[in-house]
Amino acid sequence: MADAYDLGFRSLDEDEEYDRQLPVDGSVPSWLSGALIRNGPANFEFGGERATHWFDGLAMLRRYGFEDGEVRYTNRFLRTDAYADAADGETAGEFATGGGTLRQAARWLRAVGPPEATDNANVHVARLGDHYVALTEAPRRVAFDPATLETRGEFRWTGDVPEHMATAHLSVAPDGETVGYATTFGRTPQYHLYRVPPDGAARERFAAVDAEGPSYVHDCVATENYAVLVEPPLRISVLRALAPWGDGILDALRYDADGRTRFLVVDRETGALVAEPTVPGFFVFHHLNAFEDDGDLVVDLVGFEDGDVVGALSLETLATEAFDAVPPGRLDRYRLDLDGGVERSRRYDGGLELPTVPRAVRGRPYRYAYAQATDRRGANGLAKIDVEAGTAVEWWERGVYVEEPRMVQRPGADREDDGVVLATALDADAERSMLLVFDAETLAERARAPLPHAVPFGFHGRFFPGLDG
Ligand SMILES: [Fe+2]
Repeated sequence: MADAYDLGFRSLDEDEEYDRQLPVDGSVPSWLSGALIRNGPANFEFGGERATHWFDGLAMLRRYGFEDGEVRYTNRFLRTDAYADAADGETAGEFATGGGTLRQAARWLRAVGPPEATDNANVHVARLGDHYVALTEAPRRVAFDPATLETRGEFRWTGDVPEHMATAHLSVAPDGETVGYATTFGRTPQYHLYRVPPDGAARERFAAVDAEGPSYVHDCVATENYAVLVEPPLRISVLRALAPWGDGILDALRYDADGRTRFLVVDRETGALVAEPTVPGFFVFHHLNAFEDDGDLVVDLVGFEDGDVVGALSLETLATEAFDAVPPGRLDRYRLDLDGGVERSRRYDGGLELPTVPRAVRGRPYRYAYAQATDRRGANGLAKIDVEAGTAVEWWERGVYVEEPRMVQRPGADREDDGVVLATALDADAERSMLLVFDAETLAERARAPLPHAVPFGFHGRFFPGLDG
């Protein structure tokens, strides 16, 4: 039997699937209409050299279309400069995998400056107006066709947002506006917060906040009135990474064990930094949700004790210890009173990552969260957490590695957890991946749709209602 590492990090050499109808064991509700589009790395070889970090594999989109209880599957690599370069046997400055080729040196000489950022947009997807876009943390984005997953070309924002490093996580506020941020290095490093209107694709900067470090900030969250960045003491050494995309940003990250983590609360209307309380240092990739509550701001996130998780996701560590060496993240609630006071309460003790809530409650008071459960050997599970009660229901199956879940509410639902949870997973025993459909109230499995082969582990995706199944 192949193990999870071999299957989940084994390169797919070419596009393998287009609009394949998957067999369904169980029943997918007929109201579920739209497509789950996920992103992630799927090729880790560059001309015979293997990527060193999970974050560096070549982007492949995966699409699960739903209509009348049927599931259709497509996957396709993004046709990017990075994809073309990999075919030529080089990398173009990814997260950790160094370039170091003659061609890269030549590029430096030609450009008299840092090499161009990679366009290997393998982390997330978003819809911006009529554009469907693949995203990573380098400031380049790639548009794709949401039906066929064909690459449409580079998506370029015009306008005045300076950007040395980007985010792949764009947060949709309760009013439908999308909020993102960019980081600039230099004498005064800053985070630049921007907004994209609900039906448009142009962005506008509404705040610039001085950064400490700068730090590696992966995600953001927006409520009715505020945008929130959480700045952990995982600093980016700009000297070490004169060009952050040159030799990979991982080498440039240093965790300051004495440092504190700072919450940056920015007024979305005025752009003013209204609070910046600090707490004992912790690291965070992902926010779960945030909301305003009686003058307080409540921020829920998956916190890690320190920055070790970033290195633990290197392919070398994963190859020897799989996910067992990855430290667990915990669901913590930070209640900010906006006068500098912060109160922390742990909402759940089990290890979690890749948390999510349904669209309708993002930025609003809510009760139920869904996440990948991570604290057992030989499997990743699924958790539904009652964040008010601090309790959870979990689903596990030996040898099954659940990826990021997405919760889709039933149209017309009046209960928060009326709907389904969609989660892709690797079935290590069967040596193939599958789509799992759960009842969002009970986590009872409603259906599983196996693929004919294993798909490498991905990162993030979104469910887009209204796309043809
Ligand atoms: Fe992420």
